[in-house]
Amino acid sequence: MRKNIVAGNWKMNLDLNTGIQIFNEINTLITEEVNGNQEAVVCPPFIHISAFTDAIKPGIKLSLGAQNCHQADAGAFTGEISASMLVSCGVKYVIIGHSERRQYFNETDALLAKKLDAALKNGLTPIFCVGETLEQRNSGIYFDIIREQISSAAFHLPSADFSKLVLAYEPVWAIGTGLTASPEQAQEIHGFIRKQIADKYDQNLADSISILYGGSCNPKNASELFSQPDIDGGLIGGASLKARDFVDIIKAFN
Ligand code: PGA
Repeated sequence: MRKNIVAGNWKMNLDLNTGIQIFNEINTLITEEVNGNQEAVVCPPFIHISAFTDAIKPGIKLSLGAQNCHQADAGAFTGEISASMLVSCGVKYVIIGHSERRQYFNETDALLAKKLDAALKNGLTPIFCVGETLEQRNSGIYFDIIREQISSAAFHLPSADFSKLVLAYEPVWAIGTGLTASPEQAQEIHGFIRKQIADKYDQNLADSISILYGGSCNPKNASELFSQPDIDGGLIGGASLKARDFVDIIKAFN
């Protein structure tokens, strides 16, 4: 059985006090209302992460994630944060290859391959993001783009390591735009991603990998998206900044 996961990517939003307030609200609502086996993850800005470590109530399925990590373990990389530092702050998940990192920070597939290695070596679960731009979708090359993103950054991994990844399909044209991929469009890509994994590794491994959908996911569209056979949860941006909306998305699995 694959894990159902809903991860909130707070990006560069919220001051510390507001973040703590929203985090505590999420924590309480999950305790009171979430009764399935789905796992929830909150990915705050680096600087706030340790403020949340002790706030997670024991026994509930809420984990901390980070939005990025450096590929080296330590060293002279001013302003950067390593995977081992994240682990020391109680972080379990790390988003790797978000389209905003690819676009604004020039992160290439070759760099992302190193970041995946660093995360895995330190025991973090990467949430590895792939997705096409609007131009790539309109020109019909989106399957090639997604195949290339996965194979260049992750297919060097031996199966034992690849099996530890969570993948996220995030069409760039749907991120923060209010445009959501239809459940059928998302399912088509999720099924395609799973087939690439089966072809490279094997069907059992492909069937065990959680593949999340991200891009304007909200409490209204989450149930239909999550009911698709190859969609195992969501990577949520804007809607994760409101505790009620985020927990309602998590409850789409209840
Ligand atoms: P969005 O962002 O939900 O605000 O579209 C998703 C993401 O960037 O992970």
